[in-house]
Amino acid sequence: MSVDSRPLFEPLRINDMLTLQNRIVMAPMTRNRSPEGVPGEDVAAYYRRRAENDVGLIVTEGVAVDHPAAVGNAGLKEFAVPDMFGEAALAGWRSVVDGVHAAGGRIFPQLWHQGVMRIAGSGRFPDAPSMRPSGIWGPPGRRTSSAADYVEAMLPPTQPMTESEIADVIDAFARSARNAKAVGFDGIALHGGHGYLFDVFFWPDTNRRDDRFGGDLAGRARFATEVIRAIRREVGPAMPIMFRFSQWKQQDFDARIADTPDELGAWLGLLVDAGVDILDASTRMFDAPGFEGSDLSLAGWTRKLTGKPTMAVGSIGLSKDLYERPSETQAIAASGLDRVMARMAAGEFDLAGVGRSLIADPEWAVRARSGEPFKPYTLEATTRLY
Ligand SMILES: Cc1cc2nc3c(=O)[nH]c(=O)nc-3n(C[C@H](O)[C@H](O)[C@H](O)COP(=O)(O)O)c2cc1C
Repeated sequence: MSVDSRPLFEPLRINDMLTLQNRIVMAPMTRNRSPEGVPGEDVAAYYRRRAENDVGLIVTEGVAVDHPAAVGNAGLKEFAVPDMFGEAALAGWRSVVDGVHAAGGRIFPQLWHQGVMRIAGSGRFPDAPSMRPSGIWGPPGRRTSSAADYVEAMLPPTQPMTESEIADVIDAFARSARNAKAVGFDGIALHGGHGYLFDVFFWPDTNRRDDRFGGDLAGRARFATEVIRAIRREVGPAMPIMFRFSQWKQQDFDARIADTPDELGAWLGLLVDAGVDILDASTRMFDAPGFEGSDLSLAGWTRKLTGKPTMAVGSIGLSKDLYERPSETQAIAASGLDRVMARMAAGEFDLAGVGRSLIADPEWAVRARSGEPFKPYTLEATTRLY
C-alpha cells in the first residue's frame, strides 16, 4: 500500500499573509535559459506547468539583483541567468507570474548575489569586481564539489568590500524586491546559503572584518539583517520573506555556522527578528541529523527553535543527493515518500522542497497525491526546459 500523502496536500497559512494550497514547494533551480537576463515564454511555460500540476509554491531559479557583480557564469558554458531589473526582464517576469497565478499557484523569486562565488570577468557586467567581505573565497583544501582549476583561480585574495559597497548591495536587494512586488510576485526568497554572499558574511572563515559587519554572530549576520529590513521597508508588512540558509558551503561541504542547537537558535533568531517569515533549511539529504545525538533534521531544529514555517529540502523523492550526478547511462532512482511523510505527520517541518524531481517531472506533485510511482532523474531531463 502506498504511503498516506494527505498531509502534503493540506493548505498552509503563512503569518496571516498568504495561504499556500499545499505543502509542496519547487526548490530554486538555476536553468540558465534567460538570454540577456530576460525570462521568455519557454520559462513562463515551464513554471506554469508546475503550478498547473499541483505545486503549492514555486521558488524561481536564482535571479540577479540589480547590482553589476551579482551574478557571473558560475561554471556555465553560456550565460543566461535572469535579472530582476530592466524593463524587458520585468515584463518577462510579469508573464511568468500571471501564468502561475492563472493556474492557481504562488511564486516567489529567489534574489541572488553570488558574492565570492562569482567568477571575475564573467556575467553581464564582466568589468565589475566581485564582492568579497574580506577578500577571501574560502579556505583551501576542504571537501568541495568545485573543480581544482576553478578553486585555484578563486583562491588569490582580493580587496575586501568597503562599507559603501556593502550599502550599494543592500540597496540593490531592496530595489529588486520592489521590482518583484511590482510585477506581482507573492513573496521574496533570499539565497542565504551555499557559500554565496550572505553566507560568506555569516562564515568566520570568509568574514574576518573588524567593523560592524564582522566579529561575533550578530556582526556577521548584520549584512543579512540589514538586507531583510531594507526589503521589508520596500515591500510592506504583508509580503512574506523566505530565507534559505545552509551549514554546508560549496567551498567546504563540512563547514558549519552553528555547532550547537543554541547557536542555530541565536543565528536564526536574528533573521526572524529582522523580518523573515519562512525558513528554508538547505541540506543535501532532508532527514540527515542536524546535530549529533538526535535524529532531528536541520529543518526540524529550525522549526523547533524558531516556531516559524520551515521547509525541508534535499533528495525528496530521489535515492541520491545533489552532488551524485546522473551519468549518460545511469539515472538516479526515485524513492518513496515514507520518510518525508513520517516526519511531516510528526510536525517536524511544514513544507517539502522538491528540486531535481520537479526538473525531471512537472507532474511529480500529482503523482505524490495519487501514489503513482515517481520517475527517476536523468541527465536528459536536465538538458531540457519543459
Ligand atoms: C540544476 C540545479 C540548479 C540549482 N540552482 C539553485 C539556485 O539557483 N539556487 C539555490 O538556492 N539552489 C539551487 N539548487 C539547489 C536546489 O534548490 C536544491 O536545494 C537541491 O537540488 C536539493 O534538492 P533535490 O535533492 O530535491 O534536488 C539547484 C539544484 C539543481 C539540481
